Amino acid sequence: MMELFELMKHRRSIRKYQDRQVSRQDLEKIIEAGTYAPNAGGGQRSIILGIRNQALVEKIGRLNLASFDRSRLVGGYVSKEQPSVIDDPSMKSGFYGAPTVCVIFAQKDFLYSIPDAFCCAENMVLMAAELGISSCIIARGEETFDNEAGAEFLQEWEIPANYIARCFVLLGYCDGEYPQAKPRKESRCKIVE
Ligand SMILES: Cc1cc2nc3c(=O)[nH]c(=O)nc-3n(C[C@H](O)[C@H](O)[C@H](O)COP(=O)(O)O)c2cc1C
Repeated sequence: MMELFELMKHRRSIRKYQDRQVSRQDLEKIIEAGTYAPNAGGGQRSIILGIRNQALVEKIGRLNLASFDRSRLVGGYVSKEQPSVIDDPSMKSGFYGAPTVCVIFAQKDFLYSIPDAFCCAENMVLMAAELGISSCIIARGEETFDNEAGAEFLQEWEIPANYIARCFVLLGYCDGEYPQAKPRKESRCKIVE
């Protein structure tokens, strides 16, 4: 077991996955870790849905990218070892072939619904790292389901009408070499006493 700070430094966003599926037991633990995230007002409003079905993950991953506006990201660069959809415009899915994805839903009209969802996501990626499972947080939850096919999924999964997807957590096993962290940018930390 890694010490917490070591684990935080080890965790990377992975965008190349093996076919190997995550076990149901590990997925349950990662989702449970999400439910223990800090949450505004102690309201525990976020809903986490795990999809442990690669074909379905691929369908949602394509919806995730369908309305992606690349023009706003010209010149952006994310990673050489683990290229993102920003780096490689030929990619068709925003989920990079991951075998499992978790969708994090939050109450649409709640002021802190976005930070609540991303706090869940952070707890989940750290839990995954502890279990030796690779992960990546993915944005554009809102656009992913804002279409006919997306709306059908929400209905099928019985997501309450006042909820909206805020983000995703991909889960799986890293294919190829595990990437190193970029050096930290300097002058970002200050302490006053
Ligand atoms: C709010 C947020 C949104 C993100 N959205 C995406 C995304 O849509 N696609 C993606 O490939 N990575 C996404 N990432 C992952 C970042 O690209 C990644 O954390 C960053 O490049 C640093 O790499 P590291 O996580 O390996 O340290 C997101 C991360 C955060 C925190």
